[in-house]
Amino acid sequence: MTYRALVVAGVVILAGLVGWFIFSPGKQENQLTSGTPLVQVAVPALDALALEGEALFNANCARCHGVNAAGNDGSGPPFVHLIYEPNHHGDAAFFRAATNGVRAHHWRFGNMPPVPKVSQDDITKIVAYVRTIQRANGIN
Ligand code: HEC
Repeated sequence: MTYRALVVAGVVILAGLVGWFIFSPGKQENQLTSGTPLVQVAVPALDALALEGEALFNANCARCHGVNAAGNDGSGPPFVHLIYEPNHHGDAAFFRAATNGVRAHHWRFGNMPPVPKVSQDDITKIVAYVRTIQRANGIN
């Protein structure tokens, strides 16, 4: 094998590995189910808007903020928490967080990176979902 062929083979193998990490099926599920919730959450009935928000939340936020917004040990805080009651973190905080990211200031999880994949419309639904869960758990 020539040196060139070796380099080409190396690149192909690397690309395959990267692709596998990015596209391997069930990865998102693993991320969702791994990690320990930080708070107990009572899960309420969700209306249509909140249901859409739940799917978006699970796809884009639950990796760090936990299933049912219960937090994820080592990754991100729960929204079922007094810190995130609407008086302290209004809906605008969610739009800002997804658009600009968040500098670590309340917790020791590190910074939140921006989530450019979610649209403003998506965030409206996510907020509806989070507020429904919060209300059902006494965070008003
Ligand atoms: C890679 C992990 C990660 C992902 C993904 C993530 N977050 Fe965060 N988020 C964090 C961390 C960590 C904090 C806490 C920062 C602090 O205050 O220390 C945070 C804080 C927040 C805050 C509070 C902002 C403030 O003003 O204090 C909001 C709102 C928020 N996230 C919304 C979202 C939404 C909505 C999504 C999904 C679209 C999302 N996050 C996805 C890690 C993440």
